[in-house]
Amino acid sequence: MIDPLAMPPPTDLHRRPLRSLRLSVTDRCNLRCAYCMPEEDYTWLPKPDILDFGEVERLVRVFVGLGVDRLRLTGGEPLLRRDLPVLVGALARVEGVRDLALTTNGILLADQARDLRAAGLHRLTVSLDTLDRERFLRLARRDELARTLRGIEAAAEAGFTGTKLDTVVIRGTNEDEVPALLGWALERGLEPRFIEYMDVGGATRWHPTLVVSREEILARVAAVHGPAEPVVEPGSSAPAERFRLADGRVFGIIASTTQPFCASCDRSRLTADGHWFLCLYARTGLDLRAPLREHGDLEAIARLVRETWAGRADRGAEERLAEHARSALAHPEELRRDPRLEMHTRGG
Ligand code: GTP
Ligand code: 5AD
Ligand code: SF4
Repeated sequence: MIDPLAMPPPTDLHRRPLRSLRLSVTDRCNLRCAYCMPEEDYTWLPKPDILDFGEVERLVRVFVGLGVDRLRLTGGEPLLRRDLPVLVGALARVEGVRDLALTTNGILLADQARDLRAAGLHRLTVSLDTLDRERFLRLARRDELARTLRGIEAAAEAGFTGTKLDTVVIRGTNEDEVPALLGWALERGLEPRFIEYMDVGGATRWHPTLVVSREEILARVAAVHGPAEPVVEPGSSAPAERFRLADGRVFGIIASTTQPFCASCDRSRLTADGHWFLCLYARTGLDLRAPLREHGDLEAIARLVRETWAGRADRGAEERLAEHARSALAHPEELRRDPRLEMHTRGG
């Protein structure tokens, strides 16, 4: 029999390699951001379906054997997952993992930053959409700005460097804060990044008029900080385009709504219950928990992953862009029936 791990890494139908895996470790969140969890109630993944750390590690080893070298832990809010540093430690020890990152809203970071760093986490991205307490409360429905800011401080104290600060920019909500957030982040040695509001599953309030485009973000930055020049980064598959201010400081813009990066997308996502999604916008994923629990044959799972990736044609964001009457991807009832359509389930 052919050993799937001894073959060259797979590429998909658009010749995109499988390089980056995002692991959602929980679908729970301690905020209710308007762009992600605006509803009153949600269908949660059943507890017994959630992969334990050993299961996550076994699947990660399969993916690393097929070319994945970048891992990102996401949620929901990943720091709500009990004993997360234990998982971080196990993944940091997997040979072949060159980049191990985590995306968090920062609320629990002050308690956990040290342990995460000691466990071997390489870097952090913290979401921060406003510096105004009232606005934070309106946007996220929880009065947690102070703990978030304290968490960001604690990350630096724990020794994390190169931390990114992600802001989703929404018209009428926080577009006026772009220059202030930029200045705030740069003063603290963080890399600010502004994200166009995306029509992902869960963003049930999305409307084209609420999207603040890359061009407008750049104009708002220029009005206060002066013009910014694009940083040329050949071969980069990251979604953020980077720009440099006259003083040399750098920030990023993720324009996946108006300028999708599907052509170079090498990422896929695993939900906390072990479903593998090839695209942020994919309607369905592949259940890897079933084979893992039924027979646990990792070579067979590696074959399945390889074949599935080889047949990947997804260009979700580009397809969304081509739709003329674009509106939210999924209705709340549909999301309640199939919570894996949610961004907070498949990972932000
Ligand atoms: P780095 O590894 O630090 O470069 O991270 P990144 O630039 O890949 O950014 P990150 O993974 O933190 O994602 C930032 C934001 O980009 C997300 O919160 C999404 O809004 C958007 N994004 C992330 N993944 C995808 C994706 O698969 N497709 C699209 N269209 N957008 C994505
Ligand atoms: N549009 C853009 N980004 C989103 N995220 C979640 N929902 C959306 C959306 N509708 C991303 C943000 C947030 C991270 C957790 O997920 O970057 O910071
Ligand atoms: Fe990748 Fe899909 Fe996002 Fe395009 S929309 S960048 S294919 S995940």
